[in-house]
Amino acid sequence: MVNIAVLGYGTVGSGVIEVLNLNGESISKRCGHDINVKYILDLRDFKGEPVEKLIVHDYNVIVNDPEIKIIVEVMGGVEPAYTFVKEAILKGKSVCTSNKELVAKHGAELLELSKAQKVNFLFEASVGGGIPIIRPLNQSLTADEIEEITGILNGTTNYILTKMSADNEGFDSALKEAQALGYAERNPEADVEGYDACRKIAILSSLAFGMQVDFEDIYTEGISQISDIDVLYAKAMGASIKLLATSRKVGNRVYAMVAPMLIKPTHPLFSVNGVFNGIFVRGNVIGDVMFYGSGAGKLPTASAVVADVVDAAKHVGTNIMTFWSSKKLELADAKTAPHRFFVRISDCDDNTRELINQVFGKIEEIKVNAREKDYAFLTEALSEAEYDEKADKIGKTLNRIRVMF
Ligand code: HSE
Repeated sequence: MVNIAVLGYGTVGSGVIEVLNLNGESISKRCGHDINVKYILDLRDFKGEPVEKLIVHDYNVIVNDPEIKIIVEVMGGVEPAYTFVKEAILKGKSVCTSNKELVAKHGAELLELSKAQKVNFLFEASVGGGIPIIRPLNQSLTADEIEEITGILNGTTNYILTKMSADNEGFDSALKEAQALGYAERNPEADVEGYDACRKIAILSSLAFGMQVDFEDIYTEGISQISDIDVLYAKAMGASIKLLATSRKVGNRVYAMVAPMLIKPTHPLFSVNGVFNGIFVRGNVIGDVMFYGSGAGKLPTASAVVADVVDAAKHVGTNIMTFWSSKKLELADAKTAPHRFFVRISDCDDNTRELINQVFGKIEEIKVNAREKDYAFLTEALSEAEYDEKADKIGKTLNRIRVMF
C-alpha cells in the first residue's frame, strides 16, 4: 500500500478523491499497489462529509509522517505551494501537481531537487487538463527534435470563443458559464488575458527545448478585445478565432507568443471547440502529432493527477529523468515574427480608406453585409514592428487580429 496526502480539497482535490473511489480497484491493479489517501490538507473542516476524518489543517502532520510517500499538490498559486512542495521533496516524498504557476516558475529547480533526492516531481495535469502531453514530450517523443508546439491551452477562453461563435452568446454570460462549470481560474483574468495559456506554453517549451523558458518573456495577449463583430468577420472568412499559444524553432532561435488568431478549417486546431484543448506538435522525425481532450474540469484534471500518482508509486526510490535544465533560453524578439493581420475599422471615411491602401499596399478586402460602414481587410505577411509602423500612420484606432493562414 502507498500512502498519499492531498493538499487542497477544491475542484481538482475533490476530483482526485472521486477518481480514486470510482476506479480504485483497477488503479491498484495497474499500479501494483493500493493507493490510500491518509490526509487531506484544507483550511475548511467538511463536517459530515466522508472526507471529514482525513482533514488536517497543519502541513507539518503530513510532511513529517514517514508513511506518506506521495504528496498531491492541487492548491494552486505559487505560495505556499512552493514551500510545501520543496519541503516534501527534501524529506524524500514524491510530488504530483496540477499547479501550472508553480511548475512554470519553479519547475526546473524542483526537478533538480527531485533528481538529487531520488524522488519524482510530476505535473501532467498542469497543461491540457486531462490530455497526456507532459509524459509524451518527456518519454514518447524523445527521438525527435521538437520544431513547433501550437496549442489551444485554455479551456475557459476556448469555451467563451466557441459560445460567441456557435450560439451568438455574449462574452460575459459565456464566462459565467465557464466559471460555474469549474473551468475558470479563481481570478478569471488569468484565463481571459492569456496568463494561464502563457504559463502552459512556457512549461511545454521548457520541456521541448530542455531549457528554462521564462513565462515573463513570452508576448501575451488575451481575448478581452475580441468582440462579436470580429466573430462575424471570422465567420465571413470561413475562419475561427482561437487563443493560440505557440512556440517554434526557426534556425537556432525560439519564438513564443500567446494571442488570439484567425485559423481556417485546414488548420488541425480549427475543430477544437468548447472546453477542449488541442496541442499540435511538430517533430523533425515524426512529423505532425495532435493531442486532444478536455483541457479543464474536475474529473479530467484529476485523471491526469491520479495517473501521476500511479507513476510515482511505481517509481518509489527511482527518479524519472526529465530534460529541463535551469539554464535560461533567450527567446527571439516576437516583434520580428511575420504574420498576416486581419484589420477592421468602424465608420471608415474615404480619405482613411485611401490612406490605408497607400500605407498597407496589397490588401484583401473582407465584406460583411450588415457592416457597410466598416473597412476590413487582410494584410500581406508583416512583422509586428512593420505592422505597428503602418498602423501608426493611419491615425485611427485599428482593430487587428493575427492570422494563421
Ligand atoms: N482555467 C484553466 C482553463 C484550468 O480554463 O484551461 C485548467 O488549467
